[in-house]
Amino acid sequence: MLSRKVTSHGQDSSYFLGWQEYEKNPFDPIHNPSGIIQMGLAENQLSFDLLESWIEENQESNWFRKRGGSVFRELALFQDYHGLPEFKKELAEYMSEIRGNRVKFDVDKLVLTAGSTSANEILMFCLAEPGEAFLIPTPYYPGFDRDLQWRTGVEIIPIHTTSSNNFAITKPSLEEAFQRAQSLHLKVKGLFLTNPSNPLGTTLSPQELHLLLSFSLSHSLHIVSDEIYSGTASSPSSPTLTEALARLLPDPLHPAWGRLHVVSSLSKDLGLPGFRIGAIYSHNAALVAAATKMSSFGLVSSQSQFLLSRILADKGFIRRYTRENRARLGRRRGVMQAGLREAGLPCLRSEAGLFCWVDMRRLLASASFEAEAELWRRMVHEFGVNVAPGSSCHCAEPGWFRVCFANVAEETLRVAMRRIRAFVADSGIRR
Ligand SMILES: Cc1ncc(COP(=O)(O)O)c(C=O)c1O
Repeated sequence: MLSRKVTSHGQDSSYFLGWQEYEKNPFDPIHNPSGIIQMGLAENQLSFDLLESWIEENQESNWFRKRGGSVFRELALFQDYHGLPEFKKELAEYMSEIRGNRVKFDVDKLVLTAGSTSANEILMFCLAEPGEAFLIPTPYYPGFDRDLQWRTGVEIIPIHTTSSNNFAITKPSLEEAFQRAQSLHLKVKGLFLTNPSNPLGTTLSPQELHLLLSFSLSHSLHIVSDEIYSGTASSPSSPTLTEALARLLPDPLHPAWGRLHVVSSLSKDLGLPGFRIGAIYSHNAALVAAATKMSSFGLVSSQSQFLLSRILADKGFIRRYTRENRARLGRRRGVMQAGLREAGLPCLRSEAGLFCWVDMRRLLASASFEAEAELWRRMVHEFGVNVAPGSSCHCAEPGWFRVCFANVAEETLRVAMRRIRAFVADSGIRR
């Protein structure tokens, strides 16, 4: 018999069910051409060749050697939860680089974690008691239901947005969510934002940044800014919450600085989710100390830190990689958007992320989440394409889907687009 804690997690949504369907029958152009194509997974596989060439040309780093000597024993024994200093320095500089060097990161305010998953959960443990709440704009990454709530007991209160203004966050929507939390007797501890957004692929506008900061200031709320998709934006020109706060409150000693916490990861920008490298960046010294202790439960292995410190230290390579990766993602996004348009499916204008947010409302048999689920089932089982339905992202309107474009080969994308066109034609006939 297992405990109530482990039998009540948020992993039974269609988001995770789609992955299971894919695992049972994965597409392969040669061995299983009628299998399911996975377009529900936000992975970046477009620039692996660049990293592979770097590794090929820098064999010394692979074999745990530094300046001719072995560091094997040093790494084998290393277990300090503060992380390898050379890695933290390089990671802080990389975080600046992908933000156009407009934000500086101080290594003493950085906590290493096993991916953003761990960073986000640690922040919830540090900032809220069980039964306290964070407000999160919808639609949001389906994994948050598990990552933020499951073990911590923290509650998520959605801030509902709509397609009528391209899912922008407004003052009434923020206030409505805050009131809803209060009517449920939940104390609101903060706002949890994803910028750039998963699943929208958009960045917060200057108006939204200002609104969110003013709202958090007026209620003394924390802000967690999950910026895991920073390096996927077509250009690093959009301002971040850190920059907006610096403009609003230039005094670094203002208490609001201690309530802004940035989450970062190498899972998307460098396409390395398997390496489990994430970080919390906070100006709050007490939080940094607590989070560092909590990171003991999800450390980044010393060999990952070692290898990545070498890659990130090669500044010329990183600049080239970042530029080329952004360009490749931009091209893929363009191909995907054009293909969807051709199939008669509009999508939200976006400039970041590894996905398009696609409007399939006209294909629904009725404006309901049941009809959305039925559409999704047909797409997976009859047409062999897995995508994430909007309901798994808690979208308030049925008929939106997240379709990922960077985890498949170009040829597979073409097959997927053919299938999507056939699916749209078939759905049109059925209606
Ligand atoms: C917004 C967001 N946060 C966190 C994560 C988890 O990332 P990681 O692999 O760094 O744990 C994801 C993964 O898709 C995500 O989209």
